[in-house]
Amino acid sequence: MQSVLKCIDCGAEYPLDRLVYSCITCGGLLDVIHDLEALRGQVTRDLFDARLGSLEIPYRSGVWRFKELVYPDMADDLIVSRPEGNTNLYHVPDLAAWAGLRHLWLKHEGENPTGSFKDRGMTGGVSQARRLGMNRVACASTGNTSASLASYAARGGMQAIVFFQEGQVALGKLAQAIAYGATCIQIPGDFDVAMRLVRQVAESLGIYLLNSVNPFRLEGQKTIVFEVLQQLRWEVPDWIVVPGGNLGNSSAFGKGLMELRELGLIDRLPRLAIIQAEGANPLYRGYRSGFAVHERVKAKTLATAIKIGDPVSYDKAVRALHWTDGVVEQVSDQEILDAKARIDASGIGCEPASACALAGARKLAKAGIIRPSERVVGVLTGHVLKDPGLIVDYHTNRIEGIHATYANPLLRVEPTLEAVRAVLAETESAGRQR
Ligand code: F0G
Repeated sequence: MQSVLKCIDCGAEYPLDRLVYSCITCGGLLDVIHDLEALRGQVTRDLFDARLGSLEIPYRSGVWRFKELVYPDMADDLIVSRPEGNTNLYHVPDLAAWAGLRHLWLKHEGENPTGSFKDRGMTGGVSQARRLGMNRVACASTGNTSASLASYAARGGMQAIVFFQEGQVALGKLAQAIAYGATCIQIPGDFDVAMRLVRQVAESLGIYLLNSVNPFRLEGQKTIVFEVLQQLRWEVPDWIVVPGGNLGNSSAFGKGLMELRELGLIDRLPRLAIIQAEGANPLYRGYRSGFAVHERVKAKTLATAIKIGDPVSYDKAVRALHWTDGVVEQVSDQEILDAKARIDASGIGCEPASACALAGARKLAKAGIIRPSERVVGVLTGHVLKDPGLIVDYHTNRIEGIHATYANPLLRVEPTLEAVRAVLAETESAGRQR
């Protein structure tokens, strides 16, 4: 059997080459379902380990290394890859101690070609666009998806059309989308409005939709957890902590983990912790109500990447939480920016939304939900240079309502040896006190 598209609600199936984004019968979200029976035995840890360090296309990509579980039927010559993945998994004892944990790793997805995890999904999605013969692709974005789409579309010879909220996209991301040649459309409406608009645009104008409602995106994104497991020598951590915005990533993790267990590559599932910003917390609200209510919120957070009030993959994220006995936590902008300052000062760095992983792990450890002895992997979703403005504003204490707890202030010194000597003595004693 070839892979098929299957509705997560009513089970209706569609062939892979059918141009659908949600179920025609009931409107439910679609999964790409692979024939796991046929893959059993063929897909092993050894197979994936043997491809590590490969110089061959497509296997040197950290996505296509797992091709059998991503898109087995995709012709290699249609694949658009930069190649993505192969990101570092940092063991961070200092940050672990700060979070009240003993075993913490950070998987840095900001080390992808365009600086965010989106590249893993985009290689799948843009390759599918090619397979379908589409020459225009579109998305709504808080920034990273647009940067990634712009890059991959350019590589694949397609026009990218990206929609975002005017004035709400961090500079690094906006600059990328423009630079890679996307048609950039700003609207006077938030991400959720842009998302609804692009769905209409895609349907009416025959443009291929590459938001994470597109299930081929999620097939690529799930390789984050595959790679983590491979880097941990297939020893399953107790927790995977991930920021939640449009909820594509967390949904993809749930599906990927279930597949690995089904195929016997792992024998148990880690628990998923999805972390949202307090001002953009629809999943958290649902979780607190036992998913009795599904609220949409008017999103507000300084972590603009996750400023989303009506996430498209909500139902799949709920499913992932059920599968993994997962939890949802929320963190304030203050907690996000303080955690970010710690990650940045550790020399690793990340964008604001990514710091939800550490802020959330710390909060869950404090609440006793994550135990100090448990092995925790946090996912850093974006690169430190994505949002440079917020970094300078934080460290110069210029953000209203935020205290720069871990400020590294910019110094201004007269150009004399004496003045420099005096200021360095001051910073040395301040450093000793820290
Ligand atoms: N972190 C970063 C840096 C992001 O850019 C996003 C989403 C998320 C976390 C949340 O991931 O949506 O899978 O739950 N950014 C999208 C965008 C919405 O348009 O770039 P999610």
